[in-house]
Amino acid sequence: MNTLSRSCWIASALYLTIGMVLGIYMGIAQDHTLAPAHAHLNLVGGVLLALFGCYYALTAGSGTRRLAVIQVIVANLAVVIFAPGIALAVQGEGEGLAIAGSLLALLSMLLFLTVVATQPRPVSA
Ligand code: HEM
Repeated sequence: MNTLSRSCWIASALYLTIGMVLGIYMGIAQDHTLAPAHAHLNLVGGVLLALFGCYYALTAGSGTRRLAVIQVIVANLAVVIFAPGIALAVQGEGEGLAIAGSLLALLSMLLFLTVVATQPRPVSA
């Protein structure tokens, strides 16, 4: 497994751990106000980062490309801005961070699309 793929998996497990703790907290407190932040942390953070990690582990050379590294950095930035941004938004504290996070999430997906679409095919024997 290359370094980029490993960093994706570590980030994914970290986001899922925090998301699960938040889920348990919501259950104990019987206050589900933060459910949308919990859901996006788990899905955009945990699930998407794991998906990126799979791709970078399975495609030879993809994990060393500069564009791939930028894509993963943008994806992580999106998560750490988006989830708290949604938490603030659902509590009526403004939507600016949530909007910025959502646009970064979109940018990271467009970068991933570019990485996948421009991945050189292996030369077959
Ligand atoms: C320890 C693990 C988890 C706990 C204790 C937990 C707890 C909760 C709770 C209490 C809610 C609010 C339910 C409601 O208001 O009806 C919720 C919603 C949700 N959770 Fe989790 N959860 C966990 C893991 C996950 C994971 C791993 C994912 C996704 C990968 C996930 C995705 C969602 C989604 C999509 C919602 C609905 C959000 C919404 O309605 O706005 N959860 N969870």
